[in-house]
Amino acid sequence: MKIKWTAERIKGLKGGEKITCLTAYDFTTARYLDAAGIHMALVGDSLASAMLGHPTTLPVTMDQMIHHTAAVARGTTSAMVVADMPFMSYQVSTEQALGNAGRFLKEAGADGVKIEGGSFRAGTVASLVANGIPVLGHIGLTPQSIRQFGGYKVQGKKSSEADQLIADALALEAAGVFGIVVECVPVALGEAITKAVRVPTIGIGAGPHCDGQILVSHDLLGLSGGTVPRFAKQYTDLGDRMLKAFKEYKQDVETGAFPSDDYCY
Ligand code: KIV
Repeated sequence: MKIKWTAERIKGLKGGEKITCLTAYDFTTARYLDAAGIHMALVGDSLASAMLGHPTTLPVTMDQMIHHTAAVARGTTSAMVVADMPFMSYQVSTEQALGNAGRFLKEAGADGVKIEGGSFRAGTVASLVANGIPVLGHIGLTPQSIRQFGGYKVQGKKSSEADQLIADALALEAAGVFGIVVECVPVALGEAITKAVRVPTIGIGAGPHCDGQILVSHDLLGLSGGTVPRFAKQYTDLGDRMLKAFKEYKQDVETGAFPSDDYCY
């Protein structure tokens, strides 16, 4: 029987078995991810771009995230389901963060939430954790700050920035996160952050020394179209295969090859 991955169990993997995480936004993908034994399904706010066609993660709403998180929760039996708190759903006040994080656990069946930000977010993290909500931190390239960063750039290249990111990771650890996503930083910094904290780091464009890795499923599956980040390895070409199947179907219908007798009553 498969055992459910929880925040505590994931935390226990620090320094041992590598932690595998992928984004999922729907029931079907969640079922395959779960069957593959992936430890964590993140309902990323990348939902905004991957599923809803927005250029950034900023427009996705709480209600949209709840809707998709509930579908992913229905599709998993063993993977931990973590919901990404969308832009401006936790930044306004601790009360707002608690109310919205609580909705993910109560209404959508999530097992935890992810929020972006370092030391300055520690107070919010501590309140969520104190109220029984497992929190995954996220530092480095935090896409909700894209307007401030001015683009999707590697973070922590200067030593002062690197020092700040290590301090951020330590502050999140002290606030009670069960893990930290580290996005788009040089390999050496990914390693330094991983060594500095006792909670697992989940890297995305942060090199091989992190305790685990996460990718956006659409990038891995070849469904993203256009450009994908350099750190995203494409494992298959579902987009091309879908296009081929749709074209064949169109042709079959147009020529009368479908539906043949096999598909008729
Ligand atoms: O929204 C997202 O997809 C993320 C990444 C860490 C994968 O936050």
